[in-house]
Amino acid sequence: MLKFDIITIFPDFFRAAFEYGIIRRAREAGLVEIAAHDLRAWTLDKHRQVDDRPFGGGDGMVLKPEPIFAAVENLTGTSGGRSSFLETTRVVLLSPQGRVLTHRVAQELASEAGQVVLICGRYEGVDERVAEHLVTDEISIGDYVLSGGEPAAIVLIDAVVRLVPGALGSETSAVNESFSDGTLDYPHYTRPPEFRGMRVPEVLLSGHHGEIEKWRRERALEKTQSNRPDLLK
Ligand code: ADE
Repeated sequence: MLKFDIITIFPDFFRAAFEYGIIRRAREAGLVEIAAHDLRAWTLDKHRQVDDRPFGGGDGMVLKPEPIFAAVENLTGTSGGRSSFLETTRVVLLSPQGRVLTHRVAQELASEAGQVVLICGRYEGVDERVAEHLVTDEISIGDYVLSGGEPAAIVLIDAVVRLVPGALGSETSAVNESFSDGTLDYPHYTRPPEFRGMRVPEVLLSGHHGEIEKWRRERALEKTQSNRPDLLK
C-alpha cells in the first residue's frame, strides 16, 4: 500500500481529482491511499497564518517554515527532520526549482516508496529551509510556472499510481507506453477503417503481426524524431 499525504492550503482543490478511472480503482482496490491535509491545521497562532513577507524585500508572500515542518513531522510520525524518516518515506516539495518529473522518477516512487508526502507551494515561494532541511525531493512538473503546487501534485500522483503493480488492468499495460523504452508511443487507430476519406494504415488491417510490430516501431521512432528528438540522444 502506497500512501500519499498532500499538504496544501486548498484541500478542497483535490475533491474530485482522485475519483475517476485508474486512480479511483487503485484506491478502491487498496493499492493506494490519498489524503489532502489543510496546512492551517498546523498553525499555532490565532490568525492561523501560513505565510509572511520575504526577508530582504520583494513582492509577494512566502510560506512559513513552522507549520510545514510540523505537518511533515506529524504525518510521518517523526521529529528530527529528514534524517529521521523511514527509508521508504519520500517528502516532495513541488516547485519550479525542482528536478523535472520523468517516467524514471515516477517509476522510482512507485517501486520504492511506502509513503509520499507532497508539499504544495503557493504565493511567491516557500521558506528555503524546507527545501534545505526537510524534503527528500524537490520536483517540478515542467519548465513553466503554475500558481501553486496543487495541479503538479495531481500530475505526480497520477503518473505514479498507474505504475503501481496491479493498478492497470494487466501488469504489462505500462510496458508498451511512451517513455517506457525511451521513445514515444506508436499511433493508434480504431473503427471505422475509413472516416471522411482518411484511411487507417493498411498494414494494421492485414493481420500480419510481424509487419504490424515493425510498422509500430518505425512510426514510434519517426514520431519521436519529429516531436522529441532530445529523447533519442
Ligand atoms: N509550482 C509552481 N510551478 C510548478 C511547477 N512547474 N512544477 C511543480 N510545482 C510548481
